[in-house]
Amino acid sequence: MTALLAKMTLEEKIGQLRMRQAGVTAAPADALDAVAKGQVGAMVTAPGVPRKHLRALQDATIRRSRLRIPLFFAADVIHGQRTIFPIGLGLASSWDLEHIALSARVSAKEATADGLDMTFAPMVDISRDPRWGRISESSGEDTYLSARIAGTVVRALQGPSLGATDSLMACVKHFAGYGAVEGGRDYNTTDMSLQRLFQDFLPPYKAAVDAGAGAIMTALTTLNGVPATANHWLLRKVLREAWQFDGLVISDDGAVENLIDHGTAANGNDAARSALMAGTQISMNDRYFGQTLPQLVKQGAIPMEILDEAVLQILTTKYDLGLFADPYRRLRRHERLSAPEPPLHRTEAREVARRSLVLLKNHNGTLPLARRGTIALIGPLADNTIDILGSWSGSGQPEQAVSLYKGMKKILGGQARLLYAKGANIADDPRIFELLADNRVSLDPRPPSELLAQAVAVANQADVIVAALGESRGMSHEAASRTDLRLESPQRTLLQALKQTGKPLVLVLMNGRPLTIEKESEMADAVLETWFSGTEGGNAIADVLFGDYNPSGKLPVTFPRSVGQIPIYYNNLNTGRPFNRQSPAPYRSHYFDIDDSPLYPFGHGLSYTDFHLSGIRLQNPQMVPGKPLHASITLSNRGARSGATVVQLYLRDAAASVSRPVKELKGFQKVSLAPGASRTIGFDIDASMLTFYDADLQLVSEPGWFEVMIGLDSEHVQRARFELLPGTTEVE
Ligand code: NOJ
Repeated sequence: MTALLAKMTLEEKIGQLRMRQAGVTAAPADALDAVAKGQVGAMVTAPGVPRKHLRALQDATIRRSRLRIPLFFAADVIHGQRTIFPIGLGLASSWDLEHIALSARVSAKEATADGLDMTFAPMVDISRDPRWGRISESSGEDTYLSARIAGTVVRALQGPSLGATDSLMACVKHFAGYGAVEGGRDYNTTDMSLQRLFQDFLPPYKAAVDAGAGAIMTALTTLNGVPATANHWLLRKVLREAWQFDGLVISDDGAVENLIDHGTAANGNDAARSALMAGTQISMNDRYFGQTLPQLVKQGAIPMEILDEAVLQILTTKYDLGLFADPYRRLRRHERLSAPEPPLHRTEAREVARRSLVLLKNHNGTLPLARRGTIALIGPLADNTIDILGSWSGSGQPEQAVSLYKGMKKILGGQARLLYAKGANIADDPRIFELLADNRVSLDPRPPSELLAQAVAVANQADVIVAALGESRGMSHEAASRTDLRLESPQRTLLQALKQTGKPLVLVLMNGRPLTIEKESEMADAVLETWFSGTEGGNAIADVLFGDYNPSGKLPVTFPRSVGQIPIYYNNLNTGRPFNRQSPAPYRSHYFDIDDSPLYPFGHGLSYTDFHLSGIRLQNPQMVPGKPLHASITLSNRGARSGATVVQLYLRDAAASVSRPVKELKGFQKVSLAPGASRTIGFDIDASMLTFYDADLQLVSEPGWFEVMIGLDSEHVQRARFELLPGTTEVE
């Protein structure tokens, strides 16, 4: 690589640092020209760009450029390429690393067959704020769960060797703290203590780096005042020095330009210089790297070593991807994908999707539904194949997706009568969709009263009502922040009218964030959270509604009762004056105008069977030097069906030099049990689980008492205590 670097002109070097858009309808002439001149090093492609366009661009590079340095192609393959899996929150709701890995492996296979070398995934931003539309892409609020998922996805995407034709390089994003934007308003300021940053927000990125992610993307936001893209401390001190990251650093789209609006760069020169000096190596959709770097390097404002460092990194990435050995490695795959309906991974998608569904409420065993009588399926999301795919749905085609209506119809196979009515639009005021990045919402032109009347007439004929309500996919997306998390008013009116029929009412939610659905949950007899469940969503939801699959999902994020409670998350600090719901008193920390608990806590999710935990045991009341402490509990299935649940281990440091959360997830196991069966579930608690960042930002553990909590959600736990003796832990 250094020999190649020595042959490169300044322009050619700078060209490698630039990523631009590949055209959607054809490879654009100016892009072909630019790559032939060595002015571009990589391409970002939109969904659906055919492989032949990418091939044309690679041809221009290999045949016409002086040094024939291959391009690499990257895209947003977030929860699927052709086959769409559930959105991030849905995948996380499965707490099923094996199946999350399966979804990533399928995505890698399909994306590399489409000519891609890299995906801008996994997105591992922790978010405690459902107003933020991009919480949909995340794994939710918890550090440990998100970190486990981050590592799993990186390994599954990249496979054992990056050079393999079906290995897709991971570009973990958005480094760092993008999910903590103030007020949940996208692109807004992130400002937090370094303890919190290191303790709660950085570990998922670190897990992705440790799993070998080939690249990382900088966030569009500032972190404690300094934009991530020009943040020397973040990119050089933390990422390179402390974490020893040896991959590629890519700016988010236009992030170098945004430095001017952030007010940390006076002009394009400043923007490009500060980003490159800080450690950003590729500028996505670049303007200023190309315009200003030649002069800046010539003047000595940027040392040649800094430029060379970035170029070498990019060349090494291309080498690792196997592109020097064969620039067409992922471009010459067989033509199966050009078939009108390329074969999708439907079995995998259905299996993953059903594991992602969370049964929030099930009064009197309303679910599963019997396959008899008349069922009314009602709602704007009931026969919808666009929204069910979720945002960032790659090259997924709505025509290939299974709506809930279709899924229910199929599973019933005529055994019960299925009636359908739309009942309402997602929202009545089309202006709310206007500025959304994805505003493909087809509104029914009929007056709301007519839609409603038809739905009530249909509901009146039924034995049970299933209402499919929620958001359009564009409402939970980039630049899609909300201040009001209720269902839009026509949907609330619809649900109320359906309730008035007096029939059993099942609420199926399709949405990309926790919604404030306290009233709706009260009205409904059963509530199933399905997020946006992907290509096979309708079949998967029908499997659960009719009991062919016993739901096993658990919430990866807290559901607030009211938007005013946000941020609300399970691993909060106790405060000096915690509020006790059992013995309420004044001068305690709470909101007086609301029941200040979550509507549904982190880790919550019901089953059709009855799981029960009993007899928490610790092998020792003290932690013995160098030895993990074994905790165990008995899980029994007291119900009549087999099923799976997630046993969750939480720890609390009872007294430490900094205030520690009331509980933190430190382990989990997804367990299947036959009816009547019991099993002992064990966890080894080791010293690394007891550490935290102290006031001097040292990772330490401190002797004293710890509480162990094990539960099937974060609120209902069994407790035990142990003492960590002085000098028993070694912390690196
Ligand atoms: C901007 C988004 O923030 C990022 O997540 C995405 O990967 C890029 N655009 C490319 O589409």
